[in-house]
Amino acid sequence: MSSLSARVERATSLARRVRDKRIVWRGTALTNFTHEHPSPRLAADLFKGEWASRLPSPLQDTTGTVPLFEDERVSWAMERLGGVNGDSVLELGPLEAGHTYMLHRAGAESVLAVESNQRAFLRCLVVKELYGLDRARFQYGDFLEYLRRTDDHFDVCFASGVLYHLLDPVEFIDLISRRADRLFLWTHYFDPRGTSARFQQRGLESVPSSHGGFAHTLHRRKYGYSLRAAGFCGGSNKTSSWLTRDDLMDALTRFGWTDVEVGFESLDHSNGSSLALVARRARVGA
Ligand SMILES: C[S@@+](CC[C@H](N)C(=O)[O-])C[C@H]1O[C@@H](n2cnc3c(N)ncnc32)[C@H](O)[C@@H]1O
Repeated sequence: MSSLSARVERATSLARRVRDKRIVWRGTALTNFTHEHPSPRLAADLFKGEWASRLPSPLQDTTGTVPLFEDERVSWAMERLGGVNGDSVLELGPLEAGHTYMLHRAGAESVLAVESNQRAFLRCLVVKELYGLDRARFQYGDFLEYLRRTDDHFDVCFASGVLYHLLDPVEFIDLISRRADRLFLWTHYFDPRGTSARFQQRGLESVPSSHGGFAHTLHRRKYGYSLRAAGFCGGSNKTSSWLTRDDLMDALTRFGWTDVEVGFESLDHSNGSSLALVARRARVGA
């Protein structure tokens, strides 16, 4: 073999091993080790600068600022839903397990939380370990795929901050309706009145749509530059679809949710109008 073709072959093999992550390209494998004494801080610092949430003691000063571990929307929801003590809970999009932590502390018998962002999933695992969330399980994957295939049934579904990140929010409402008896949902909704300039810039077209015989309009939005932010915690597509408040409420009714109670409604939220709600439904076949 000529020396040129040998060099090409060695370079190709090297590139392949880098691609397959079998060799470390920058530094050495030793960068993955620590010589420090084990501590919560050391574990949390694996994601230094990435935490959105303020973690509970002893990490409150070295993590993020958003109070998701003491979220008044979640306290409200648990109270309106009659508590979660002894309940099985399905949580969709846990981000950093702040709401999981609250559900666990409130006595949920089990929490299954499905998260599709790799680094958010890993942060959830750090939280689970640091705060002893032994009745919570985290799964890495797309909750839509989970919902489409599972037969599992839960007492409560927590769907906070996820509906407006989806391409087909009505399919999502249909899917969760098959899986739980009680619901907490927090979401933005489409309302051209109470919106900021930033909100207006992200709007695309409005498309008539139908799911399960329910006619509605999808107001498509793009994420734009926010997809460049390391802390992006939205959906997994470049766009998402928002519902109007009326379509949201009608979809809930259409898929069997009753006793809907709204709280925390804000028309002038900087990211678009938003509300929290709790609802109940009779179990199919019950
Ligand atoms: C805006 S955050 C909401 C976090 C938290 N639930 C809250 O209310 O503060 C949305 C979360 O849902 C996750 N997510 C979005 N789409 C998802 C999907 N299809 N499957 C699983 N997780 C998803 C994101 O990665 C992110 O962690």
